[in-house]
Amino acid sequence: MTSVPRENVRFPDGFLWGAATAAFQIEGGAALRGPSIWDTFCRTPGKVHGGDTGDVAVDHLRLWRDDVRLMAELGLGAYRFSVSWPRVLSGGIGFYDALVDELLSHGIQPCVTLYHWDLPQELENGGGWPERETAYAFGAYTEQVAKVLGDRVELWTTLNEPWCSAFLGYASGIHAPGRTSPADSLRAAHHLNLAHGLAAAALPASAQVGIALNPSAVRPLTGCEADLDAQRRIDALANRIFTGPLLHGAYPQDLLADTAAVTDWSFIRPGDEALIHHPLDYLGVNYYTPAVVSAAPAGAGPRADGHGATGHSPWPGADTVAFHQPPGERTDMGWSIDPTGLYDLLMRFAHEAPDLPLLVTENGAAYAPDLHDPARIDYLEAHVAALHRALADGAPVKGYFLWSLLDNFEWSYGYSKRFGIVHVDYETQTRTPRSSAHWYARLARTGSFPP
Ligand code: NOJ
Repeated sequence: MTSVPRENVRFPDGFLWGAATAAFQIEGGAALRGPSIWDTFCRTPGKVHGGDTGDVAVDHLRLWRDDVRLMAELGLGAYRFSVSWPRVLSGGIGFYDALVDELLSHGIQPCVTLYHWDLPQELENGGGWPERETAYAFGAYTEQVAKVLGDRVELWTTLNEPWCSAFLGYASGIHAPGRTSPADSLRAAHHLNLAHGLAAAALPASAQVGIALNPSAVRPLTGCEADLDAQRRIDALANRIFTGPLLHGAYPQDLLADTAAVTDWSFIRPGDEALIHHPLDYLGVNYYTPAVVSAAPAGAGPRADGHGATGHSPWPGADTVAFHQPPGERTDMGWSIDPTGLYDLLMRFAHEAPDLPLLVTENGAAYAPDLHDPARIDYLEAHVAALHRALADGAPVKGYFLWSLLDNFEWSYGYSKRFGIVHVDYETQTRTPRSSAHWYARLARTGSFPP
């Protein structure tokens, strides 16, 4: 691992420094669009902290011009945001059209995520991601968005963290739509993969197409054979279920065997894997914390897998795997801090898919509301340093998007967790950059760590 002293860290010219958000988490303006599964979930008692909703969020739909100005002041070179599928269905694509123009006029490169978890409720009513029709609907929606934004947007992300959509949405039920069917979650994973392939094919030739995965840096608790097998199982369910078809055109055989008691995978049709294997222009990596696993007796009780507990596992067919909380410091999410997980993932993909550019599409941390946030700066600097090591060791990493520009709606945690480098007062919607925003602005401007 090639490590240089922090004062010598220097990123290449053209390295992309950005920040990320997602529609449901910041926009508000819920009355101007049809409902998504997250609107419904927020209204289901006990699902979201404090009964919080996305109705207003951080009012970005009203304050977007100010938010773009703020990004420009911070010197960001790129902004990753998501398009709300229900808003597009309600005729609201003009908002994104104007947002893209505003970003470009400030010299900020737009990076559009087509799906960041807000499935139109009407599609869930028709069966949601476990149904093949949802993938076709996503292809049609992508065409619609590409028609309007495709002339100006180069950087596209089809799906954000499809693992969460499939397994937190349809197996553990901790995310919308809150279903708890292991078989349906595997169907959902396949149809999300298919949706990616259909969207990639629908985007214009000028598009740089990628997907943002949340690959798991999964480590065995010990080197014993049983723990190594637990690692293999979770690697299949967290990572290779996506990278198999995406990068290699086939689902891994061990995944199909491990989950044979859950599903026979007969929903995969001839040609699907080839469709999913559409050439990628980059792979997006969202990284926050690693996972440590061991072999455990079946039904060993609640698991510390960092995704909350509903009593239903997000890991179909892996009842004999236990998750462990590594010792050491944690963020406000309770997630342990370990930047080597990011290094390991970047190096893994650099080897697995040589020459495929990599983007860190998300990385960041939740901490207390304070404006002075040295712990967040430490977290970010350690992870950016890990990225730099991977770059020095040959990983083709082209950019870094910090999660998140603004405090926002943190899914089932509601507004109780704050990831922003910019503080938001939820009463007045006032934005105030934290110390970390000033730190990041310097990094973005100079490509090196502030002294
Ligand atoms: C992953 C998701 O993409 C994003 O929506 C979420 O807020 C962050 N991670 C933090 O949990």
